[in-house]
Amino acid sequence: MKNNKILYISFIAVSTLVSCKKDTLVEVVDVPDTPIVKIEQKGGKPSDIKANEGAFSLYALPFDYNELEPDFDAATMELHYSKHYLGYVNNLNKSIVGTKYEILELDPILKNLNLSDAVIRDNAGGVYNHTFFFEALAPKAGGEPSGSLLESINKDFGSFDEFRRQFVETSVRLTGSGWTWLVSDKTGKLKIVSSANNDNPLMKNLGISGIPILNLDMWEHAYYLKFQTRKREYANTFFSVINWEVAQKRYEAFGKSARVEVTEGTTTTTEAPVQQTTQPVKQPTPVKQPENSVDEFQ
Ligand SMILES: [Fe+2]
Repeated sequence: MKNNKILYISFIAVSTLVSCKKDTLVEVVDVPDTPIVKIEQKGGKPSDIKANEGAFSLYALPFDYNELEPDFDAATMELHYSKHYLGYVNNLNKSIVGTKYEILELDPILKNLNLSDAVIRDNAGGVYNHTFFFEALAPKAGGEPSGSLLESINKDFGSFDEFRRQFVETSVRLTGSGWTWLVSDKTGKLKIVSSANNDNPLMKNLGISGIPILNLDMWEHAYYLKFQTRKREYANTFFSVINWEVAQKRYEAFGKSARVEVTEGTTTTTEAPVQQTTQPVKQPTPVKQPENSVDEFQ
């Protein structure tokens, strides 16, 4: 009798499991079509955007979101500046509180960064990279650089067109989110490198060290609204909005002065000066910041 009871209970249990499994297998789930979301420019101005009170503030974009049209669209510029960039600044302000980085400016944070400090690595890199990117954009810009930067581009890449081709190719080949960089070594020699996520050439032990001269954001949020998957078109269009005067000044200040000097057959190398601290400017009294996740905007 006892064995029969056990057998009966086992039968019920197995039947239930089979029934559940069967139900699971035949279950039909309606998957709605992905809605097509048209993101409109909200019509705000860059000057409306302020970071939460804290150590770092945003670089003040000196033109409106629509002034890079038709090359970079206003909706992308607004989303990029007022959401993504703002998010990185707010998150950095919050994440450095109580850490060894709290007393440092942005450049020293990056140069002294412990790469295992993932949150600060992402946000400090995000702030530096975006600031550097926005600084070198301008309406009615593009064309070619001049002066020593053009001379070095011609010397190190063969021609400006070849430099541009390599810069675009490097950008297109980058898989996942990241950045393309034109960097100078301590002798002023130029090269193109790419970095993953928000890493950059100021961070040590990444194999991409150099003095940044120009960068291009290859995160989807930087181009997808207008260019969708057309990364090559986006990278080529970037060359219509580059403020080469900014890049030239960076190179003259941190590359040209470090050029190898040949005097009477003797080659001497001048140590490159420390990279400038770009905007945002660090404020005197950091305070605790409210929650704000950058990831929600990716
Ligand atoms: Fe970005």
